[in-house]
Amino acid sequence: MFSRLVRPTMVSARNFSTSKQNNYKVAVCGASGGIGQPLSLLLKNNPLVSELALYDIVHTPGVAADLSHIETASKVKGYNGPENLLDALRNADVIIIPAGVPRKPGMTRDDLFNTNAGIVRDLAKAAAEVAPNALIGIITNPVNSTVPIACEVLKQAGKFDPNRVFGVTSLDIVRANTFIAEAKGLNPKDVNIPVIGGHSGVTIIPLISRATPSVSFSEEKLKALTGRIQEAGTEVVKAKAGAGSATLSMAYAGARFANSLLRGLKGESNVIEPAYVVSNVTEAEYFSTPLLLGKKGLEKNLGLGNLSDYEQQLLKAAIPELKKNINAGVEFAKK
Ligand SMILES: NC(=O)c1ccc[n+]([C@@H]2O[C@H](COP(=O)([O-])OP(=O)(O)OC[C@H]3O[C@@H](n4cnc5c(N)ncnc54)[C@H](O)[C@@H]3O)[C@@H](O)[C@H]2O)c1
Repeated sequence: MFSRLVRPTMVSARNFSTSKQNNYKVAVCGASGGIGQPLSLLLKNNPLVSELALYDIVHTPGVAADLSHIETASKVKGYNGPENLLDALRNADVIIIPAGVPRKPGMTRDDLFNTNAGIVRDLAKAAAEVAPNALIGIITNPVNSTVPIACEVLKQAGKFDPNRVFGVTSLDIVRANTFIAEAKGLNPKDVNIPVIGGHSGVTIIPLISRATPSVSFSEEKLKALTGRIQEAGTEVVKAKAGAGSATLSMAYAGARFANSLLRGLKGESNVIEPAYVVSNVTEAEYFSTPLLLGKKGLEKNLGLGNLSDYEQQLLKAAIPELKKNINAGVEFAKK
C-alpha cells in the first residue's frame, strides 16, 4: 500500500484559473543554481503557485526577469542578497531550499557539511522569523544533517513544528522507479518503489520487495540494483566530471515534492510522498518513510511496513551512519 505514491500531474501551463485554493506563495532559496533554475521553471508552470519568490545571493534579478515572461498567472519576483531574504520568505506557504555547494568527483555529501550547514542555518532562522507556518523542503546536502540543523534552529526560535520540515528524498524514489522499470522493461510511470532511510550511500534503502507492480530479481541482481540506487548521485557527479551533481533530475524531483506539499495544503486526499522527517519509526531521530500529506504538512507517518530479510540488513547498516549524521547536525546547531 505504501508503495502507491501519488505522482504529481505535470500540468498544462495555461489551463487554470486562480481560485482561492490555487493561491500559494512558494519561495526557492538558491534559485539561481543548477537545481534552483529548472526547479523554479517547473514551479512557474504549476497552477497551485500564485507567487514565486526567488532568493539567492547572486543573479536572481535575471532569473526572475526571464521566468516572468512565461505565460502563466503566477507572479515571479527576484530577491538578491541577504538584505532581501526576509522579504523573500515573508508569509511563504512553502519554502524549498536547494542553496549550497554541490559535490565534485571524489567528494561525499558529508564533505559539503562545512559550507552548507551555515547556509541552511541562516535560511531556517529567517524562515522562523517571517514564515513560521511555512512547509520547508530541504534539498541541500548532506540532507541527513541539514534537516536536523533546520529543526534545531526552529526549536531555538520557538517556532518548531515537526510536521512542517522535510528533507527531500524524492530523487531516490524517482531513480529507483526508473532503474527498476528499465530492468523489467516496464513504463517508469507505472512503477513505484518506496525508498526509506536517509539520503546518502548506505542510508538509502530501496524496498524493492514492495515494488508496484511486484517484481523479483536474483540475489545478485537485487544487490546490484540496490547499489546503483544508493550510488546514483555519484554516477551523475562522475559523468559531470567536476561540473556539479544532479540538477535536472533533482529539479524534477523537487518540483514533484513541492507539488505534493501544495496538493496536501489544498486539501486533496491521499497525497503520499516520502521525505526525511523527525521520526520514531526506528532508533534514528530522523528517517524517511512514506508520509500522508495534508493541510498542515505531515498528517500521518505511514511507517516502515514489512521489510524482506535483505532490507532488514540494509536498515541495520543505515542506522549507525544516520545517527552519526544527525548528531553532527544537532551539534552544529547548538554551537
Ligand atoms: N536532496 C537531493 O536529492 C539532492 C540532489 C542533488 C543535489 N543536492 C544538493 O543541492 C544543493 C545545490 O546543488 P546545485 O547543483 O543547485 O548547486 P549550485 O552551486 O549550482 O547552486 C547553488 C546555489 O545556491 C546559492 N547559494 C549559495 N549560498 C547561498 C545562500 N547563503 N543563500 C542562498 N543561496 C545561496 C548559489 O549562489 C547557487 O546559485 C547541493 O548541496 C547539492 O548537494 C541535493
